[in-house]
Amino acid sequence: MIFAANLKCNHTRTSFELYAKALNKVLKEKNDEIFVFPPNIAFYQGGLNFTQGTQNFYPCINGAFTGEIGKEQLDEFGINCVLIGHSERRVFENDDFIKTKFDFATKHNFKIIFCIGENLACKNQNKTKDFLNSQLSNINLNYEKLIIAYEPIYSIGTGVSADIKDIEVVLEFVNSKTKAPILYGGSVNEKNIKEILNIKHCSGVLIGSAALKVENFIKICGLN
Ligand code: PGA
Repeated sequence: MIFAANLKCNHTRTSFELYAKALNKVLKEKNDEIFVFPPNIAFYQGGLNFTQGTQNFYPCINGAFTGEIGKEQLDEFGINCVLIGHSERRVFENDDFIKTKFDFATKHNFKIIFCIGENLACKNQNKTKDFLNSQLSNINLNYEKLIIAYEPIYSIGTGVSADIKDIEVVLEFVNSKTKAPILYGGSVNEKNIKEILNIKHCSGVLIGSAALKVENFIKICGLN
């Protein structure tokens, strides 16, 4: 099972160093199924037993892109895993730009966690599948290093995950379109993790709030 922690705009270089070391210690050896996405400024430089990824990047090697971070900067920290399409980034990024990022990441052989998810209005109008279909039509679903994360917007950061049956229907749908592993994200925590991991076609979770404290993330991963 895949466990990915999206720390969003939380943690500093100092606090993430403690986080990374604590997680490293319980992992003991390299585990390809544990991912953590700290803020770029807090990247840990050194050997890690989990995959450290970036929440965001600019699709360039380097260049005149004020305020951005390109591949050259990621390379220095050994980062070759990226999050693309998170709903909190889609606020600033349109489908064309997301596609450009995706294509850049595939060209450079990055592992990609690609997020999709509908809002409540879309769900209530029974348009979820059409909407997710349009988000998925933007990318190469056969890319070998692709992981899809289904994160219904209405469940992110609310403390209440989506209905298990609703998740099941979507995961079945996504699975019919791609062989990529599929994660669920949206208020995953210690209490609901078991039930979520039991959903058919669920290959893991993407966790925000409940992963902010390393000891909680370790518990959710079942590493303690
Ligand atoms: P949450 O965030 O676990 O706090 O709902 C999940 C995410 O945004 O990836």
